[in-house]
Amino acid sequence: MRTLLGAAEIATRVAELAQQISSDLADQNPLLVGVLKGSYVFMADLSRAMDIAHEIDFLAVSSYGKGTSSGAFRLLKDLSADVAGRNVVIVEDICDTGLSLRAVRDIVGSRDPASLRLCVLLDKPSRRRVQLQPEYVGFTVPDVFVVGYGLDYAERYRHLPDIVILEAGDLGQDSAHHGEISRR
Ligand code: PRP
Repeated sequence: MRTLLGAAEIATRVAELAQQISSDLADQNPLLVGVLKGSYVFMADLSRAMDIAHEIDFLAVSSYGKGTSSGAFRLLKDLSADVAGRNVVIVEDICDTGLSLRAVRDIVGSRDPASLRLCVLLDKPSRRRVQLQPEYVGFTVPDVFVVGYGLDYAERYRHLPDIVILEAGDLGQDSAHHGEISRR
């Protein structure tokens, strides 16, 4: 495993994003909407680095048949908050093909928010399959499989403080169970 982004570098960038959002949405009491599960670490750090009043909520989606990427998503967990009239910022760990973020944006966007912005810690534009450009991007990353800081491989590694590159050799026996690393 090789570190792509260390915890200190991530913290600095997250603080910059938080300042930018705080300045853009000052006095708007924005609603940050985290997309579970990957966003949980980023959301906690981003929220705590903001210096304006805001609220948080979470939702979860799941694609039908990952890898085939039909673009069809199921809402696994809905928001608690009513987003109508709110200034909403969707918070995601990574935008890869963009299919998840587009699905979430469409779901939230259909509920009449006053404004809707996308904030991703990592952007991997080389993998994009839909036209989508988040307003806030922490880091643009190459097409490597990353884990840590909320990102998983088969539900592992989410707790790592750094964002690290996972390579086939790191998996050992696991690779037989989980197949090759094909995304993120
Ligand atoms: C990951 C990640 C994004 C999505 C990005 O979520 O958290 O939501 O994939 O990929 P895309 O741009 O190609 O759609 P995953 O479905 O693995 O669930 P998780 O958040 O629970 O890890």
